[in-house]
Amino acid sequence: MREHDETGADANSEAGGLDAHTPNIARMYDYFLGGSANFVADREAAEQLLRAFPGNVEWTHINRAFLGRAVRVCAEAGIDQFLDLGSGIPTKGNVHEIAQQVNPAARVAYVDIETIAATHARQLLADDPLSSMTQADITDPEAVLNAPGVTELLDFDRPIAVLAVAILDILDLDDPAALMARYRDACVPGSALAISNSAMLDISEEEIDGAQEVFETTTTPTLRTRDHAEVLEMFAGYELLDPGVVPSAQWRPDQPVSEKYAARSNAYAGVGILR
Ligand SMILES: C[S@@+](CC[C@H](N)C(=O)[O-])C[C@H]1O[C@@H](n2cnc3c(N)ncnc32)[C@H](O)[C@@H]1O
Repeated sequence: MREHDETGADANSEAGGLDAHTPNIARMYDYFLGGSANFVADREAAEQLLRAFPGNVEWTHINRAFLGRAVRVCAEAGIDQFLDLGSGIPTKGNVHEIAQQVNPAARVAYVDIETIAATHARQLLADDPLSSMTQADITDPEAVLNAPGVTELLDFDRPIAVLAVAILDILDLDDPAALMARYRDACVPGSALAISNSAMLDISEEEIDGAQEVFETTTTPTLRTRDHAEVLEMFAGYELLDPGVVPSAQWRPDQPVSEKYAARSNAYAGVGILR
């Protein structure tokens, strides 16, 4: 059995370039989803975030459910290739599992900057020739689009669903639409784009300020909530599927949701098809 230090981190983790002492959003998100791929610093920051904004666990589950529905809709529409940007630590309902339920031949290239996410995904996918994990910064589209894990798995002459779910809000970008345009330009018509981005729908100024304070202690120190128009802009060149850009719980829900519950999404989401 491996030794763990007082952070709860594997004693070898620093050697792999992993900072277990600074809270990390991938591992905090894993904690909110009930996973165990997180360290003491992540759990403490996650609990602090919950004190500031108690709705965060619900936000996480609503977001994850949107991701699942978006993948299923893309797969059912015949798209059999996925590029998952900021894919996170593997958990229940991973993109390749959902896509392959619809089409067993579906291919998924996962991309995440975080070491634990990359390591866990590589372990999970070790025997899966239809999925890959690339550890890269998605703000560097050239690096992502030329990474072997992406180029050897995905055929850019055929439609690809690009997923940017709960990732653009933690990138400190003034023009996220410009970043998404770089990915769009690598895709052929018939490709898809799924996005969710945090929004202030049912969260007070005090709660968002408290959440922001916690984010400042993490490896992704800025939380960029965006309004409807800003999320819409990220879909430039795409035709939105119904019902458009909406609170994420309201995007093709499995059961009808009330306006009140939809607001608790605290995020806008949508899926578009490149024309
Ligand atoms: C909130 S999680 C979302 C995971 C997944 N997309 C989902 O919606 O369930 C955000 C993920 O983005 C990753 N991330 C943050 N900045 C990144 C960057 N510049 N490039 C790639 N991944 C990044 C984090 O490591 C984390 O795993």
